[in-house]
Amino acid sequence: MKASASGGENPDAVFVEKRVWDIPTRLFHWALVMTVITGLYLGEFREFSTIELHFYAGYATAALLAFRILWGFTGSKPSRIRALFPSPKRFFKYTATLRKRHPSGIAGHNPLGALSVLAMITALLFQVITGLFSEDDGLFSEGPLAGYAGGSTVLTMTSLHHTGSRVIMALIGIHILAILFYLLWKRENLIKPMLTGIKLIRRNTD
Ligand code: HEM
Ligand code: HEM
Repeated sequence: MKASASGGENPDAVFVEKRVWDIPTRLFHWALVMTVITGLYLGEFREFSTIELHFYAGYATAALLAFRILWGFTGSKPSRIRALFPSPKRFFKYTATLRKRHPSGIAGHNPLGALSVLAMITALLFQVITGLFSEDDGLFSEGPLAGYAGGSTVLTMTSLHHTGSRVIMALIGIHILAILFYLLWKRENLIKPMLTGIKLIRRNTD
């Protein structure tokens, strides 16, 4: 599986095709896209008849996150939780080259991407937890744990759930802009590897 290509400003760079994203990580990603978009839509436009469906989208998101965390301990190297915590040295070394107009060719998330993934997973976990304690008086509906908490806790959780949804929307916007930046500016298609698993990697990097 060898392919060579020139890398923008860096004509000597040689890239090889490598299987980077394993099947569970890819399935997780596209399933998460579906449950999160469904959850956001059904939360935003909630009605008496559909709020339960919003809860189910939330539980499905929770199950996917639980799976991803477990997979982060057993999955392939680029999918490991460890890969989401770049060292400060690696982080600054990478950001210094960010504006260079050639593909980074990293076998996994780049250090900046890793932090954004971490932010997204944390925000979604937060959203699931606050959702369990939220209520919508108007729809006579409440998360399954709201009954166990006091009134002021439920109010706070509901408000945090609202704010959390805005944070998630912003993170998704940044996520998509970042992917477009890589595609258009750095001439690196990150979407195809998330579909096929195979990515063009700079030779001699793992
Ligand atoms: C609801 C919207 C989305 C959410 C919550 C989301 C979440 C995530 C997460 C958690 C990861 C890390 C994957 C892992 O290591 O397990 C990721 C990576 C990625 N996502 Fe998304 N995503 C969303 C939408 C999209 C869309 C619409 C696209 C394509 C246009 C996309 C393309 C990618 C790509 C290419 C990566 C890998 C980035 C890299 O190479 O470092 N995502 N996303
Ligand atoms: C554990 C599962 C979840 C439960 C039980 C739950 C429960 C609720 C409840 C009771 C409300 C109504 C709150 C109110 O009246 O302001 C709500 C609103 C909302 N939820 Fe969830 N939720 C869950 C997960 C999620 C997830 C994962 C997302 C995002 C991906 C999300 C996004 C939203 C949004 C956008 C709203 C509307 C917020 C607003 O405009 O005030 N929820 N949720």
